[in-house]
Amino acid sequence: MSKEVFADRLKMAMARQGKKQVDLIRAAAAQGVKLGKSHMSQYVSGKTFPREDTLCFLAKNLGVTKEWLSGEEEDDRQVQKTEESRESSSESENHMLGGKKMREFKKSTKLNNVLYDVRGPVVDEAARMEEAGTQILKLNIGNPAPFGFQTPDEVIYDMRRQLTECEGYSPAEGLFSARKAIMQYAQLKNLPNVTMDDIYTGNGVSELINLCMSALLDNGDEILIPAPDYPLWTACAILAGGKAVHYICDEQSDWYPDMDDIRKKITDRTKAIVIINPNNPTGALYPKEVLQQIVDIAREHQLIIFSDEIYDRLVMDGEEHISIASLAPDLFCVTYSGLSKSHMIAGFRIGWAIFSGNKDMAKDYMEGVRMLSNMRLCSNVPAQSIVQTALGGHQSVMDYVVPGGRIYEQREYIYKALTDIPGISAVKPKAAFYIFPKIDVKRFNLKDDEKFALDLLKDKKILLIHGGGFNWNQPDHFRVVYLPRIEVLKESVSKIADFFSYYHQ
Ligand SMILES: Cc1ncc(COP(=O)(O)O)c(C=O)c1O
Repeated sequence: MSKEVFADRLKMAMARQGKKQVDLIRAAAAQGVKLGKSHMSQYVSGKTFPREDTLCFLAKNLGVTKEWLSGEEEDDRQVQKTEESRESSSESENHMLGGKKMREFKKSTKLNNVLYDVRGPVVDEAARMEEAGTQILKLNIGNPAPFGFQTPDEVIYDMRRQLTECEGYSPAEGLFSARKAIMQYAQLKNLPNVTMDDIYTGNGVSELINLCMSALLDNGDEILIPAPDYPLWTACAILAGGKAVHYICDEQSDWYPDMDDIRKKITDRTKAIVIINPNNPTGALYPKEVLQQIVDIAREHQLIIFSDEIYDRLVMDGEEHISIASLAPDLFCVTYSGLSKSHMIAGFRIGWAIFSGNKDMAKDYMEGVRMLSNMRLCSNVPAQSIVQTALGGHQSVMDYVVPGGRIYEQREYIYKALTDIPGISAVKPKAAFYIFPKIDVKRFNLKDDEKFALDLLKDKKILLIHGGGFNWNQPDHFRVVYLPRIEVLKESVSKIADFFSYYHQ
């Protein structure tokens, strides 16, 4: 029995059935079979072979025999048989159109290993409950506006004034005025060697993450991504055909990246390292020494550094945010930020990417980004029109992150309230508006964090995202977005505390 054959057959059977890893994990949970996300991804990547009971479960769910799935049975007719039986069963379910068997459209198999649980199954369940009239307390998404964080008036006023001038496409890379303001911002952050041609605006940082991963990764190319991560990075790397290799951020060291782990995971195929600073989901802010160590490793192995700095203006305790690119003039870096969080306009969709440092290393890559950027024509033009307004003058976000400000006070509250719950511990966040508490798994016999999130939702009508949603491979964390006002946070935490007083898996 070969792990590789098993992995290939597993992927083939999943593709034929249109099932993703998450579908099998959910089916297993529903049937009381132990199958965690990390197990599943190890099976798919050929790292381990399942136990007999798990093998039986997988075979049954994928409509194949366990002998075939395990590689004991030689030929591939099994999948064909499965396909036939699936087709005939769908016919028998009367899926007919105009007297012919109805054609069915399955999602692309490229999506098989893509997970994005920030809007995943637990969130779907919450939506179903809401539809049925249940009120849900939402601590799941970093979207400031619905929690009463207001866009600065000047931004709205200036967008209104310019709206009629924003009817056409802009240049693909973005309006001159927007890129000029971003370039000046890059100068303030000491990003080296940035010209106007090195700046691209996007429909949020999200679009640019996708675009930059697609432009870089060939099948099997590796990219280092933090665990926990903001899962879009992993999803886009995989969708581009790359291999997301997760390096650990260490909770014992304020969630800083573990340098030894990064070193261990570099191979001949590693092209780049991603850092998220300030971090979602941990709220960590990396000091200069930590950034310097990452630069040293990137320099040694000539890696591109992708730095997601969307929360760079949401920093507390008088700390300063340092852009890693400012420490790496001899390396090629791409720095991302935008206005979704700092200016509370996530819905306007405006973010940017800045190339800096040694651009000779990446001429062809930059050409690829340009090509993809041209293909999407341009980013949202009304949103580009207010970048200059937003980045200049008084930064209203500063009032939120100092004592007396909403984000600061909400952080103080949530940190204390959550860590007062027996069995829950947390590192105090220094930036952004997330906290990533740890659950004492022994105390609650916790085996499956997604089940925990679902149980909490059903029992207490509170929606939050389990650690696995951030590619954290132990079932022992969850993320809380502390954007709601303190009264709402109080109500939520008292329900969470009550839940943990009886919960046992
Ligand atoms: C770390 C990180 N990067 C990027 C994004 C996406 O930002 P945008 O709204 O600019 O697409 C988010 C959104 O939550 C995020 O947390």
